[in-house]
Amino acid sequence: MDVEVFTLFPQWFDWYRGQRHVTNALGLGHTLECVDPRATTTLSGGAVDDTPFGGGAGMVLRVDVVEAALRARYEADPVELRARRRVIALTPAGRLLDDALAEELAAEPALTLLCGRYEGFDERIVEHFASDQVSIGRYVLAGGELPAMVLCDAVIRKLPGALGHAESAQEESFSAALEGAPEYPHYTRPAEWRGWGVPEVLLSGHHERVRAWRREQSRARAAAERPEREA
Ligand code: ADE
Repeated sequence: MDVEVFTLFPQWFDWYRGQRHVTNALGLGHTLECVDPRATTTLSGGAVDDTPFGGGAGMVLRVDVVEAALRARYEADPVELRARRRVIALTPAGRLLDDALAEELAAEPALTLLCGRYEGFDERIVEHFASDQVSIGRYVLAGGELPAMVLCDAVIRKLPGALGHAESAQEESFSAALEGAPEYPHYTRPAEWRGWGVPEVLLSGHHERVRAWRREQSRARAAAERPEREA
């Protein structure tokens, strides 16, 4: 998978790119690159944003600046680009990122992530250049960079070989393997600490019983959460 992040703060991603599962994915041939719209802006002083029409606080990322950056990178009209590639604008009001969306995006050959800053994007960017709008939660962050990293993380860990063990991303919280339920509890050594034990079944060595217990725990957690989610 090729991931390109359009951001005014490309250096923020240097740290993220160094994380083990990301270096694993890059070693397998996947790519994660940043594109800085400041590099292609034709506005004086390297400007990329402007004050909102109608007044109000903050600055808005300009549509002409984002178009120039997308054209320079893909040599295509961004309006056509989104028909052949997922172009995702990170916005607080977008589709909420969940495991099903991460799974869907992990199956794509390429993703383009657009990070807004300050007050966000000129709406025409979202309307005409993006194929998707994705939110990581109903709260507002200072920009799309952290949401882009969250999205990358949720997607990249699903790529085969990115995690140490092939199974580790399969049977985890909210996955299809657990019927969308939260994951079962985990325990490790010591088997007893301050009088707190570990469920006996996990020490039994009976794989079938362990599997059944885990499934049951996962379902119980889903049932306990349901009234909360529906509230
Ligand atoms: N940009 C600012 N806040 C955001 C959020 N919660 N999700 C996605 N993008 C954002």
